Amino acid sequence: MMSESSETRLVAESRVPESSVRSGDARPVDYSRVFTQAIDRLHAEGRYRVFIDILRNKGMFPNARCFAGHNGPKPITVWCSNDYLAMGQHPKVIAAMEEALHDVGAGSGGTRNIGGNTHYHIDLEVELADLHGKEAALLFTSGYVSNEATLATLAKVLPGCIIYSDELNHASMIAGIRNSGAEKRVFRHNDLAHLEELLSTDDPALPKLIAFESVYSMEGDVAPVAAICDLADKYNALTYLDEVHAVGMYGARGGGISERDGVADRLTIIEGTLGKAFGVMGGYIAADRTIVDVIRSYAPGFIFTTSLSPVLVAGVLASVRHLKSSSLERDGQQAAAATLKAMLSDAGLPVMLGETHIVPVMVGDPVKAKKISDILLAEYGVYVQPINYPTVPRGTERLRFTPGPAHSEAMMRELTDALVEIWGRLELRQAA
Ligand SMILES: Cc1ncc(COP(=O)(O)O)c(C=O)c1O
Repeated sequence: MMSESSETRLVAESRVPESSVRSGDARPVDYSRVFTQAIDRLHAEGRYRVFIDILRNKGMFPNARCFAGHNGPKPITVWCSNDYLAMGQHPKVIAAMEEALHDVGAGSGGTRNIGGNTHYHIDLEVELADLHGKEAALLFTSGYVSNEATLATLAKVLPGCIIYSDELNHASMIAGIRNSGAEKRVFRHNDLAHLEELLSTDDPALPKLIAFESVYSMEGDVAPVAAICDLADKYNALTYLDEVHAVGMYGARGGGISERDGVADRLTIIEGTLGKAFGVMGGYIAADRTIVDVIRSYAPGFIFTTSLSPVLVAGVLASVRHLKSSSLERDGQQAAAATLKAMLSDAGLPVMLGETHIVPVMVGDPVKAKKISDILLAEYGVYVQPINYPTVPRGTERLRFTPGPAHSEAMMRELTDALVEIWGRLELRQAA
C-alpha cells in the first residue's frame, strides 16, 4: 500500500519554496518569474496537465469529436468519462432538461435563501433523502463543495471534535477537514486496526467523526463500511461516507455501497455527486433532519452561492428516478468492467483487478503515462487521460479506464490490441 497520503501530496503540490520568491536583496519580487517557474516545475516532472478539447455526440456515447491538433474534428472513443452510466445522454434526462428550460428559463436567480429555492430543488432533496433512507438531503453546486462545506462546518459545530480520515480521501474532504480547524488523525487506507488504534487512544469524552469513501476512484477498491460503522459504534463516533463513485451504480436502487451492504441507516452522513453516474452536475448530503438543518444554516459553501440551475436539477431528478427503478445500466456497466478486466489481464497488461467498475492500468512513470495517452489519441482515436501525481503517488502513475454499458466488446478488443502494440513499442513493464 502507498505510504504517502493524499494530504501530503496535496500540500506538497501547492507549496513553493520561500527562497524562490524572496530575492534575498532589495530587489522587488519578480512575480512573473515565480509563476513561470511554478509551471516549469510541472513540465520538468512530465505532469503538466493538457486538457483535451472534445464534444460528445448526443445519444452516441462513448463516441465524441476531438478538436486539438487535427484538421477539423476527429472521431474518438471516450474511455475515461465519469458519466459512468451514460445518463448524461439519456433521453429522459435530456427531455426533462429541455422541458425545464422552456418552462422556467436558464438559471435559479439566487441563493437558496434569496430567490433560488425552486420546486425542482425541493423535489430532488426529497428524492435523494429517500434514495439513502434518510430524513433529509441538501443540494450543493458540486460534490467537492458538499464535502468541503459539510466537513468544515460539522467540526466547528462540535467543539473539540477529532476527525479520523482515510489517507486516500479526496482533496475536497481534506480541504473541509483542514478548514474545520479540527484535530485530525489520518488512518492507513482501509486499515481497521490502525483506525481502532487511533480511536482508542483519544479521550472517550471528545466528539469524533470518521470520514471515508466507499469506492476509491483511483484504485477501484471498496471500504469495509460495516466494519467502520462497528468501530464508530464502539467509540461513539459519527460517520461521514463519500459515495461519489458509487451512487447510481451500486445497490438495488443506486443508493451506493451503503445500500448494497445494507448499512445506510448506520451512517450519519452520506455524501454523493450528481455529476458522475447521475450524469449532470451538483452534489449533496443525506442525513437526519437536524444535521441537514445545521449544515443548511451554518455552511458558507451552501449559503453564499447561487443555487444549481433548475434545468440541471430537473435533469438529475429524471436520472435519479430512472436509476432507482432500472438496473439495466448498472448491470451493463458491471458486465463491461468484467469483460475489459479479463481482456487486459489475458493480454498480459498490468491491470489492477479490483472489485469495482474502475479499471486502472499501472504505468509507474508520468512521462510514459502521458506518452501512451498521446499515442492512443493520435493513432487509435482512443481518449484516456493519464493520472499523475498528486492525484496518485509518484511511481504509481496510471491510465484509468471507466467502461460503461455503452462500450461494446469490439471497442474493448480495439483498445486491448492498441495497448498491447504500444506496450511493445515503448518496451513497458508487463503484468507481474
Ligand atoms: C471521491 C470524490 N469525492 C468528491 C468529488 C467531487 O465531486 P464533484 O466532481 O461533483 O465536485 C470527487 C470528484 O472527482 C471524488 O472523486
